[in-house]
Amino acid sequence: METQTLRDVVSPVAQLRAWREGDEVLLAQAGAALSPASLYARFLAGTPTLPAAYLRLVAMAPRWRWDAQVAVRDGHLIGWAEFGRMSPDGTEADLAVAVVDAWQRRGIGTALVSSLLPRCRAAGVTVLSAEVAPSNVAARAALRSWFATRSEGMTVTREDGLLRFATVL
Ligand SMILES: CC(C)(COP(=O)(O)OP(=O)(O)OC[C@H]1O[C@@H](n2cnc3c(N)ncnc32)[C@H](O)[C@@H]1OP(=O)(O)O)[C@@H](O)C(=O)NCCC(=O)NCCS
Repeated sequence: METQTLRDVVSPVAQLRAWREGDEVLLAQAGAALSPASLYARFLAGTPTLPAAYLRLVAMAPRWRWDAQVAVRDGHLIGWAEFGRMSPDGTEADLAVAVVDAWQRRGIGTALVSSLLPRCRAAGVTVLSAEVAPSNVAARAALRSWFATRSEGMTVTREDGLLRFATVL
């Protein structure tokens, strides 16, 4: 069912695939296509481009530590959904998603998350959570639609001024 949804929503627009070695180059280039507002929304801090420490992490981290699903169009990375955790057998992971501004609200984020969730489960993740600023209307609505359909439902808590959405996979 998820595969069908993915095909319907995204194949006319972008190739969806798992992160692979070398994608850090595409990712670094995609930083220029993210507005300051989108960068702030994703990193919860003002940054003029993708943070260097973040780019180092994704380039060097073992796959159990950080993994992603990417959307690529005409050789450009236009979105990615990632999950990260702190130990190889950790069952809780953090989700984050970013879609370049020109491609937002066209189903890319939804398709990325739909294709990432089975990979999270296959990697042993049973609880997935995401932190967003309360002012991030788009991410709040998107997370509600992505998480609320899970069988165990979704919780939303407020912590350190942020909203934490969590779901059991
Ligand atoms: C949040 C984000 C990843 C969503 O990705 P997207 O590809 O634009 O989302 P989709 O097109 O799949 O939309 C999914 C749902 O999210 C909600 N949504 C998306 N953009 C929205 C907006 N601008 N305003 C209100 N709701 C919005 C809607 O409910 C939408 O479903 P609908 O179009 O059927 O109404 C994208 O806006 C983004 O990259 N934002 C900046 C980074 C960020 O905030 N990351 C944190 C996410 S954990």
